[in-house]
Amino acid sequence: MAYIRKTIDEKEIERQQAVCARIFERVTADGARPLAMVDTYGCQQNEADSEKLRGYLAEMGYGFTQDEFQADVIVVNTCAVREHAEMRVLGNVGALTHSKKARPGQIIAVCGCMVQQEHMAQKIKMSYPVVDLVFGPHELWRFPELLEQVMEKHRRVFAAEKNDGAVAEGIPVRRDGKVKAWLSIMYGCNNFCTYCIVPYVRGRERSRLPEDVVAEARELVAAGYKDITLLGQNVNSYGKDLEENVDFADLIRMINAIPGDFLIRFMTSHPRDATEKLFRTMAECEKCAHHIHLPVQSGSDRILKQMNRHYDRAKYLSEIETARRYMPDIVITTDIIVGFPGETEEDFADTLSLCEEVRYDAMFTFIYSKRVGTPAATMPDPYTREDKQKHFDALTELANRISGEKHKEYEGKTVRVLIDGETGKEEYNLSSRTNGGRLVHLRGDKGLIGQFAEVKITASNTWALYGELA
Ligand code: SAH
Ligand code: SF4
Ligand code: F3S
Repeated sequence: MAYIRKTIDEKEIERQQAVCARIFERVTADGARPLAMVDTYGCQQNEADSEKLRGYLAEMGYGFTQDEFQADVIVVNTCAVREHAEMRVLGNVGALTHSKKARPGQIIAVCGCMVQQEHMAQKIKMSYPVVDLVFGPHELWRFPELLEQVMEKHRRVFAAEKNDGAVAEGIPVRRDGKVKAWLSIMYGCNNFCTYCIVPYVRGRERSRLPEDVVAEARELVAAGYKDITLLGQNVNSYGKDLEENVDFADLIRMINAIPGDFLIRFMTSHPRDATEKLFRTMAECEKCAHHIHLPVQSGSDRILKQMNRHYDRAKYLSEIETARRYMPDIVITTDIIVGFPGETEEDFADTLSLCEEVRYDAMFTFIYSKRVGTPAATMPDPYTREDKQKHFDALTELANRISGEKHKEYEGKTVRVLIDGETGKEEYNLSSRTNGGRLVHLRGDKGLIGQFAEVKITASNTWALYGELA
């Protein structure tokens, strides 16, 4: 049966906002100024979700703090992608017993991908009594009513049923920055890479309507944002679930047509369906950054097949070639998993040689982490942690060397950057990004934040470029 895209009725969101108004009355009585803390783990999708949680909390009358001892409400937005992320969350949630003791009445909520796994929701129920509210990504739109239940009934609330997910429009958003903004264009994932938990916790792929995305992009440009990152687990499948015949390249073109001086970025692209049309569109749309994050995961055809990635090394390399043909200056970054079950010396050598061949500007490398319920979790995995660590170190060394060499090529050149913030350092007090997304430190007046500038690159290392205003 075909999947039917489900939406949350606007009236439901209005109802949530009415709940926000009720909570406002409750928590600001006697002129109180309540504070909330939202702590975010994981990917940009989660950052974007936290901006919605803050949007709701702001409507409820909360100000914001980073200090758990000052907070009346704490929301921990979690990630499940690797064990390390989960251990960090559990450690930090456990430590909240101290702030709750010091501040009786403090409400602690844990949401996001980690608690959408049944065994994790159970674990919190049994072993973390400090937690008052647990809700999965699919319930985020009704966070106000869940919080109100905790406040009114003085009992623990759990809402993380198995769910394919829906699309909810109209949730208030309180963004972190003034220069760069996240813009979700779709949710969920249908790819089921064998190592990955995301499709199980984020539900099926569902696209926002192009008119909703474009309207939000217009608002962002009108509000002065200069750098808009379109978000999805696999933006290249945008539109496949919509009645209208529209794909990701078409969407870029629509956003590019919005008047104003701003950059369009996006992530993540799956190599399985990165098309020539996408690269042509990127090259033709003057606002689209020349950067693609194209996670390859492995250079071995055998492992790619086991991972269920639906491309091989040759197809991947031909996509890189096409991208560079349309945009010779394109910045290419990737994700790689080391130590997938059964990965041999030979497989790993294929990954190294692929990286040498592509010469990535930056690589994000991870040691395989077993995820409960995924197919890879039951595959034989004879190699030790030490073997994997050795490979990981070798890959990191290669990645750093290539990044350093690529950065060196910028020295002496003048590039256009967007100045996006302060570094807190005296010598190079401002941070900025090139069109391709490389980090540039420079010296200048902080009034320049939010502006584009020409910068001459004078020095570099593995991680960043350094320059002066030209
Ligand atoms: N949707 C994105 C990736 C989201 S997860 C995409 O497909 O490109 C971000 C990265 O985490 C992945 O690209 C992968 O490299 C890594 N990752 C995912 N599951 C993992 C696991 N079980 N162990 C180690 N790394 C993993
Ligand atoms: Fe995970 Fe693969 Fe989906 Fe990315 S495309 S979120 S790696 S299943
Ligand atoms: Fe983590 Fe969920 Fe993102 S598992 S990587 S926060 S989609």
